[in-house]
Amino acid sequence: MTDPERIDGFGAWYDEKQGDSGDLWHRTLIDPGLFARIGPVPRGIRVLDLGCGNGYIARRLARLGARVVGVDTSPELIERARAWQGTEPLDIVYHRADAAHLSFLSDQSIDLAVANMSLVDIENASGTIRETARVVVPGGRFVFSISHPCFDVDTRSGWLVEVTVGPPTVFRKVARYQEPHSDSYRWALPDGRSVRTVGYHRPLAWYVKQLRTAGFIVVDAEEPGPSIEFVGHRMKREWIEQIPLHLVIEARREPAQGTPG
Ligand SMILES: C[S@@+](CC[C@H](N)C(=O)[O-])C[C@H]1O[C@@H](n2cnc3c(N)ncnc32)[C@H](O)[C@@H]1O
Repeated sequence: MTDPERIDGFGAWYDEKQGDSGDLWHRTLIDPGLFARIGPVPRGIRVLDLGCGNGYIARRLARLGARVVGVDTSPELIERARAWQGTEPLDIVYHRADAAHLSFLSDQSIDLAVANMSLVDIENASGTIRETARVVVPGGRFVFSISHPCFDVDTRSGWLVEVTVGPPTVFRKVARYQEPHSDSYRWALPDGRSVRTVGYHRPLAWYVKQLRTAGFIVVDAEEPGPSIEFVGHRMKREWIEQIPLHLVIEARREPAQGTPG
């Protein structure tokens, strides 16, 4: 996101939007895919939540017994995430920091890193992937969700629906896929103001290569489809069933070259 610290009230709005279980889109479409790849969470596992926002994913993991560190650049959101600890102390440690610079974490100190819809908002995503590889133990994992790079290219993609006879045929049009770029989005706040945030598109192979170069291998993926709750809200359900708008990647940290596995 762009300059979140300068947008007074944005953090409060985002905190209210996500609440303690994520907004409808996260809760019923993205998060089930994220947690499918996270899988069982052993008690005491050390988890890093990159771009943690108001911390609802961090809290969900902490409730399962994980020891969680949350990182976000937005002071307002980190403040909000900390405030949730007053409601329910879960011993989550929050840092206001850039995900590409985690000097407060030592090498190989994390078992599982997660980033829910944050890599697409992080300018230095390659630095973040490298830094994540530094802090994750060999055999540990990095699970993240992003806008689907093939089908949801910010303002340069959209639906095409062809109606003839029978059910409509749905296509997704995508422009300038191969070109990494940033784009800004307008969010209308409930008080009438609007803010712009910035998102970053990178092609699918970019992610795979950055992960590989940093020392991760991709072991699994999800392209989440609508859950039953999502279907109840009739948000282009039939379309998203055919063409996913999100991608979840599970990557495993490889042992450094020459060290025993
Ligand atoms: C779309 S929000 C997702 C937040 C949260 N993971 C969720 O699922 O609600 C993206 C988050 O990434 C954070 N962010 C953007 N750039 C960052 C950076 N360089 N380092 C850490 N966090 C960053 C933003 O402040 C924002 O909270």
